[in-house]
Amino acid sequence: MIDRSAIEKAKEHFVQLLEAQAKRVEKLKSAPDWIDYSKLSPIKIGILPGDGIGPFIAAEAERVLRFMLEEEIKKGKVYINTIEGLTIENRAAHGKAIPDDVLEEIKKYQVTLKGPTTTPRKGDPWPNIESCNVAMRKELDLFANVRPVRVPKQGIDWIFFRENTEDLYALGPYGIQLGEDIAIDFKLITAPGSDRICRMAFDYAKRNGRTKVTCVTKANVVKTTDGLFLETFYKIAKEYPEIQVDDWYIDIMTAKLVDEKRRREFQVLVLPNLYGDILTDEAAEFQGGVGTAGAANIGKQYAMFEAIHGSAPRMVMEGRAQYADPSSMIRAAAMLINHIGYPERAKKLEMALDICGQYEKKLVITGRPNGATGKAFTDYLIDWLNNPKLQETWEAYVKA
Ligand code: IPM
Ligand code: MG
Repeated sequence: MIDRSAIEKAKEHFVQLLEAQAKRVEKLKSAPDWIDYSKLSPIKIGILPGDGIGPFIAAEAERVLRFMLEEEIKKGKVYINTIEGLTIENRAAHGKAIPDDVLEEIKKYQVTLKGPTTTPRKGDPWPNIESCNVAMRKELDLFANVRPVRVPKQGIDWIFFRENTEDLYALGPYGIQLGEDIAIDFKLITAPGSDRICRMAFDYAKRNGRTKVTCVTKANVVKTTDGLFLETFYKIAKEYPEIQVDDWYIDIMTAKLVDEKRRREFQVLVLPNLYGDILTDEAAEFQGGVGTAGAANIGKQYAMFEAIHGSAPRMVMEGRAQYADPSSMIRAAAMLINHIGYPERAKKLEMALDICGQYEKKLVITGRPNGATGKAFTDYLIDWLNNPKLQETWEAYVKA
């Protein structure tokens, strides 16, 4: 039997959640507009090394970043620095996903490049604190998780705009357990939250010559929240009459991504948080797995770029951390360089990554001593960045 007082307590808890969201929506509606990086001097980039293999791959990613932005750093246009304290030990000691002083420091940088951080789960030696990725997305209002997936040979060229602050994630730590038998979590979708992510997807399509935007929901079953997301999508679509639109349910969408004919038709996809989490892992698999992808977490004031794989504590325990692959974090660095206004340099870095990782493969990383170290691989990559034949070699690879 669930007793009456447990229900009363749950009601009060729900009232508090609603009040907090009402406040959040008001704040969101009056939030400042997009930051203009071209007007900043310096643009401040913070490196968050993270846990496990994080510090090892972050050191290599930072080296590449400094190399790519050498001139700007010299001129004082870009400033790069490491932010300490976002480690599982420090987070556990404070019992917080992001300790207050670390968050305060993070907020001094407009852009961060983050290594993988450990997310404790039940049974781990750490307290069950919230994922630090999810906390950063909420704290800095990084509402768009942008994940490109490209496999030119298979005609795949997708870009996912995953809403990053709402849906089941928003109230993930605030569910209700009623007695032993009943557990309830809350799914949250807001109109302004859906508006800004859909708008970003359409703007991207328009600026990049993409002709179609696809929305993915489960609005046939999850009627209220997904219904609102889908309705908002079609409302925004009216402002972009030159762009074709369609929408799919998440179940059939996961199937269509493996349909070799059909999947080429998808271009820009926009979707709520959890469906985006799942579908982008599936999509990254066609490109070589989540280890090959970087992700951009973008908000109007802040942006955070990250590797999408985990912190691989086992590699560290077995003394193999120096053999960890820094590619995914360097891909994230390329997205960062693009985001702050240097798209040509970002493209160059991506070409070098493709050549070293997929084409020439003079050094191969296996994660073990029979492969290259992350440092040697990065030296190899920088050699290619210095090579005047970079562009033509990459074009030959893509055509091959
Ligand atoms: C991702 C990850 C995170 C998420 C985890 C680590 C909380 O899977 O970035 O996709 O679910 O968003
Ligand atoms: Mg994920």
